[in-house]
Amino acid sequence: MVEKRKILVTAALPYANGDIHMGHLVEYIQTDIWVRFQKLRGHECIYICADDTHGTAIMLKAQEQNISPDVLVASMQERHARDFCDFQVAFDNYYTTNSPENKAFSCEFYEKMKSKGHIETKEIEQLFCEKDNIFLPDRFIKGICPKCKAEDQYGDCCEKCLATYSTKDVIDPKCTVCGSKPIYKSSEHLFFQLSHFQEFLKGWVKDHLSPEIQNKLNEWLEGELRDWDISRDAPYFGFQIPGTDEKYFYVWVDAPIGYIASTKNWCDKNNRNYEEFWKNDDAELYHFIGKDILYFHTLFWPAMLETAEYKKPNGVFVHGFLTINGEKMSKTRGTFINARDYLEFLDPTSLRFYYACKMNPQFDDIDLNFEDYANRVNSDLVGKITNLASRLAPMLNKKLDSKLGIIPEDGAELIKFAQDKSNEISDHFENRRFSRAMISIREIADEANKYIDKKEPWKLIKTDLDETRNIITVGLNVFRIISIYLSPVLPEYSALVSELFNEKPFQWSSTENVLINHKIGKFKHLSKRVEMKDVESLLEKSKPSIPKEVEEKSKCNYESLESEITIDDFSKIDLRVGTITEANLVKGADKLLQLTVDIGFETRNVLAGIKEAYDPKDLIGKQVSLVANLKPRKMKFGVSEGMILAAGPGGKDIHILSPLTNSKNGDRIN
Ligand code: MSP
Ligand code: ZN
Repeated sequence: MVEKRKILVTAALPYANGDIHMGHLVEYIQTDIWVRFQKLRGHECIYICADDTHGTAIMLKAQEQNISPDVLVASMQERHARDFCDFQVAFDNYYTTNSPENKAFSCEFYEKMKSKGHIETKEIEQLFCEKDNIFLPDRFIKGICPKCKAEDQYGDCCEKCLATYSTKDVIDPKCTVCGSKPIYKSSEHLFFQLSHFQEFLKGWVKDHLSPEIQNKLNEWLEGELRDWDISRDAPYFGFQIPGTDEKYFYVWVDAPIGYIASTKNWCDKNNRNYEEFWKNDDAELYHFIGKDILYFHTLFWPAMLETAEYKKPNGVFVHGFLTINGEKMSKTRGTFINARDYLEFLDPTSLRFYYACKMNPQFDDIDLNFEDYANRVNSDLVGKITNLASRLAPMLNKKLDSKLGIIPEDGAELIKFAQDKSNEISDHFENRRFSRAMISIREIADEANKYIDKKEPWKLIKTDLDETRNIITVGLNVFRIISIYLSPVLPEYSALVSELFNEKPFQWSSTENVLINHKIGKFKHLSKRVEMKDVESLLEKSKPSIPKEVEEKSKCNYESLESEITIDDFSKIDLRVGTITEANLVKGADKLLQLTVDIGFETRNVLAGIKEAYDPKDLIGKQVSLVANLKPRKMKFGVSEGMILAAGPGGKDIHILSPLTNSKNGDRIN
């Protein structure tokens, strides 16, 4: 018997400013599988999480909705908790960083940093929006990239050329909230002196992280570590820093401390002491995170823990990013999929199965390719695994009194083969090689299917009931073992299987038992095939109703003008009056109308995104303004030879611009 371990596991705390999406689920499902595996093995393993609630983004979002940030984060916490529950992610505690426990711990950490001489005060200059009266975080500044000169890039990095830079270098910066030009304003900030921990971190990183992560961190550890700005000026939604006037902890200070606060909250409810986990070398502590937040968890966080005299993590497990159909999740392409929308069309069990098939300990990106997903679920989970039960159990229910028999000799071999995989599979789970575990599990299913196909119980039942019963007994026992191995991945599925066998919830060691002469329950449906039409409906639902460019314009920069042009620039655009002579719906397009526009000397075919705003028959005979020298654009539904001018943000709110009194077709507009 292995010794009972005491393990605390965290997943990163999702921001309270948005819904859970398919990318997040990679992390919460990966962690959940690992935790469930540990629990099945009989260890004490506590899965801790919380909402990450502080910061400027949430403050502004609450303002926009005209509610207090406390109300906003409380409702988000509920939404998140519901999403996780429906994906069978079972936290032992799901809390919030906006809690009294977290405030107390944050202050404790800060006092330690200060008394040990790791805090320095420096005056810094930052962009400040005078209209909104806030210092602007990098994400709230947009401007021209200093490297490649691409427009409309964030204050810290360029999505075009991928350069990262300081907001100071952004050309023509604008506040994304109101569009106005920010000024530089200086204020005093508190810095945590990470450079004091250089040697400590080098050692800790070497002893606790995978070579892959060490490689990544060496880029930073080799140079001198820069001090970390941990304060923000009011107004800020967060905890005030003790002994300061109107200064707040930067959200990334109290976020990881939230792991401790959530643990304490769980301990208080369960009559336990949080120090058992956070100040005890006999306990193990692991953080699961995405690669984007590596720096926070492997440099700042261990240094903070060291300062405050807490235990450092035994490991930090880093995963890559989710891509969908090979590309970064994107709102315009309809691949930015919310967890809730997924549930409307598809099954959480299928997703958990597919993710597990893709997961490994490296931090390469993971692709959710919907065709591959449908194939894997349909051929492996439904076709190979569930099918074993759905062929055999109903036969036993209907014809054989629901009673298992005994194991014939050749069947015993097969069962042993399945049982003997236990160590190999648990090793894979322990080391987060979930994709390998799934391969081993599939191998068992393949052998079982071969056995059943050879024995053909559906034929044998006509001649030899006892022998049929015994063959079914073999098949169902192997199916049962497979379901036990799968239970970290498919908890609801395996709960149904334990019910089918009239058993208590499985433990890992349940694979050691073989059920003979045992009454089973009535077979119930276990898992569903994936239909591509449901995938298509999901992708359709995830598409924005208004094109992205329009959406962004209508949201923010109403007041901000495009950059200045000369009359020569303007005269490059050849605008003409035309009359719509034909207007038709476009088959298969939900936003477009096809228009034929007569511009005097010729007619043009125009595809315009105005279907939601206009009925085609109301347009015929109307005069419009047409950009006549626009390069023809090939679209899915034909070539568009010009663009008609219209006002408004899009959707139903579009207004075609016409000459006030009738003009001649082909007249220039200038
Ligand atoms: N609030 C911080 C974490 C604080 S932890 C003390 C944060 N939140 S997040 O909502 O942006 O992300 C939560 C977790 O989900 C992170 O580990 C992040 O890497 C992960 N993912 C977010 N988008 C993801 C994908 N598209 N793909 C995979 N994981 C992703 O970061
Ligand atoms: Zn502003």
